[in-house]
Amino acid sequence: MSHYIPESVKCNGEIFKPFLSKDEIQKRVKELGEQISSDYAEKQPIFIGVLNGAYIFLSDLMRHVQMPCEVDFLKLSSYGDEKVSSGQVTNLKEIDADIKGRHVILVEDIVDTGLSMKYLLEQLGQKEPASLKTVTLLHKTEATHHDVQLDYVGFEIPNLFVLGYGLDYAQEGRNLAQVYILDE
Ligand code: IMP
Ligand code: MG
Repeated sequence: MSHYIPESVKCNGEIFKPFLSKDEIQKRVKELGEQISSDYAEKQPIFIGVLNGAYIFLSDLMRHVQMPCEVDFLKLSSYGDEKVSSGQVTNLKEIDADIKGRHVILVEDIVDTGLSMKYLLEQLGQKEPASLKTVTLLHKTEATHHDVQLDYVGFEIPNLFVLGYGLDYAQEGRNLAQVYILDE
């Protein structure tokens, strides 16, 4: 399949350069899927993806999971079209599934300050799941100042804005097959 992998990306007047290649991402996503498969071997987990950013990662991840599982989505808004978090999280869509007594795996594209993840863990925790774990493709370790439990992390990355593979800048860039980083 031919994917969209330009040598650099101009988005909203800013230049982004390649950071994680398609092969690196696919290799790591496969490892995460295999790890989850072995950890949840006797269970039937439900993946909850955070829209919009996590949809591509989640769709690849699920196809490396080797047992029955389910999926649902919720949607948050915290960034608007800016590169810096607004510091406010709003619910735009709730999950439909009943997760009481279920093994839930919350799937994020990226953990930055940790605010979204913290908010979601509290919200989902109130619905009394049997267990609640998290997976994120990217983690900006230096930026995270909220206390969040990250169970599976794809890549630890510097505190710079990234886009591609589901992540956007003002809604652009999600269809890029690799991850790009702001060229400072
Ligand atoms: P947090 O609540 O500060 O951890 O921010 C998490 C959310 O902000 C993620 O789910 C992303 O949607 C968005 N976000 C954070 N950093 C970036 C980035 O570098 N590129 C694109 N989106 C980002
Ligand atoms: Mg997001």
